[in-house]
Amino acid sequence: LVKHLEKGHVQVNRSVGANVAADPESGGNDESEKKEGCKSFYAVQQDRQEQADRSVLISCHSRTEKKFLKYLSRHGDVKKYFFYESYGMYAVVEFANRESVASLLEAATMPSVNHESTVPFKSRLLSLRNLGSADSPNQRPGQKCQPQITIPINELIKRLSREERIDQQITSLTEAYQLTEENSRLRFLVCSLLKDIAAAYFPECTIKPFGSSINGFGKLGCDLDMFLDLDGISAQKPNSGLFLEYQTKRANSERAVTQSILSVIGECVDQFGPGCVGVQKILNARCPLVRFSHQPSGFQCDLTANNRVAMKSTELLYLYGELDPRVRHLVFTVRCWARTHSITSSIPGAWITNFSLTVMVLFFLQRRNPPIIPTLDLLRDLAGPMDKSMIEGNDCTFVSDFSKIQVQTNTETLEQLLREFFEFYAVFAFNKMSINIRKGKEQNKPEVAPLHIQNPFETSLNVSKNVNATQLERFVALCQESSWLLQQSETNTPRGGSGGDTPTSWGLAALLLPSQVAGIKSRKKRRQEPASERIKSLLESLKNKNQPNKS
Ligand code: CTP
Ligand code: MG
Repeated sequence: LVKHLEKGHVQVNRSVGANVAADPESGGNDESEKKEGCKSFYAVQQDRQEQADRSVLISCHSRTEKKFLKYLSRHGDVKKYFFYESYGMYAVVEFANRESVASLLEAATMPSVNHESTVPFKSRLLSLRNLGSADSPNQRPGQKCQPQITIPINELIKRLSREERIDQQITSLTEAYQLTEENSRLRFLVCSLLKDIAAAYFPECTIKPFGSSINGFGKLGCDLDMFLDLDGISAQKPNSGLFLEYQTKRANSERAVTQSILSVIGECVDQFGPGCVGVQKILNARCPLVRFSHQPSGFQCDLTANNRVAMKSTELLYLYGELDPRVRHLVFTVRCWARTHSITSSIPGAWITNFSLTVMVLFFLQRRNPPIIPTLDLLRDLAGPMDKSMIEGNDCTFVSDFSKIQVQTNTETLEQLLREFFEFYAVFAFNKMSINIRKGKEQNKPEVAPLHIQNPFETSLNVSKNVNATQLERFVALCQESSWLLQQSETNTPRGGSGGDTPTSWGLAALLLPSQVAGIKSRKKRRQEPASERIKSLLESLKNKNQPNKS
């Protein structure tokens, strides 16, 4: 039920879930961004969090950039700022010091409203208007707006069709889809704003993003998974003889406590959370959560509590993504392909999730010869004493120091890998085998489920328990079809239009064409067309293999 996971970035010097390429379009100039590449996952998270705590979100109507900055700098040094549009114009402003935020809030006036009640605290979500301006009414900030959503699929297909090689198409897709530096900042800022609300109940709490917002695989527009972290309160200190008395209350289970925490925070967000709308408490899910939409950022948010294992799997995905650039490229491509063909969906249901799909790509990369990424067991064996992590009885230990990981030399191209990915899963023995990234080898299925993917840390759980046989069959059929398409010379040949011509979709772009969705039904027809011997026998073998399943 709870979707957990993801986020995206990089190429060079990436870090925390954000592209760190310097963007001449954004304001300010942050040297620290360029240094993130060598920091640990947690150090980067902490820096981002701290940066967000010094930032404000301002609805800025029609100010000019110059006046806007002049006004803000009365309160202190502005380190970085950028504009974006979401139901109006907004600016994210990072001050050099927290005091500036306090000073800004000090100067802020509560609006007088008629039929609404005032929110009983000052949030860092502000609106700058009526500053006796001589501006022309519709003047826009001089800076270009930073996009917070991906380009439409048709545009992506056109863009990819202009590339000359499939490898380039794959990297170009990643570049178009991955989270930007600005979008990452906005995600951390929304967590920080929410922390101000949650702190009304629990002053020591922090709210951290996890999943695709920070794991390196997030696409612009992906949901914002957050978790309320209360560990700061109970961090073990040397015994001083002084104890916090009355720190416990009778509760049925840890789950019941998590549910009550989320229930009160959910209530608070609903009643008083500036910009938070459509709050739903989904407390009976396996992982209880509060879901809402944060209007000023446009993020769909899922707030959980007591979810440290998910943070570990986020870190693991991040690590895999950093080990070899091909990992991220392939994950982005497969995720986009799956979404286009409705293999994945934004609605929860019997579909394969992005998290499952990512684990499938990782598993495939472990199965290459030589492997492109190591098994989780190997990463555990490389762990130092500081990496030890036991969460709720699950061993979540793995190495955090990337430099200890030796990667073998595998020179396969992205094009080869994509082709082989489809072939691999077109013939995978889903009926008998479970996908296991801990061992890096398929294992016998421990239980009956159409698709079995072992949860890397809670090893008795199946990540894809929700997937039904029909959805798995659709995935397999699409893998077969895409594999077949990539064997065809018309798919393989660049046909980018010269000059002003509209390019004909080829390569990866052809695999993303919406008409290919219906392609599953017309597969029979296609089979009559000349196909390579190799793929013909592949399809034959599948037909035989799938028969017992279908009875
Ligand atoms: N997660 C998990 N087990 C699952 C599902 C999710 O441990 N069965 C964790 C993963 O760490 C995942 C995170 O929860 O990264 C968030 O899940 P979800 O939002 O479903 O996936 P994302 O990776 O964030 O992908 P999306 O972009 O679709 O949100
Ligand atoms: Mg998510």
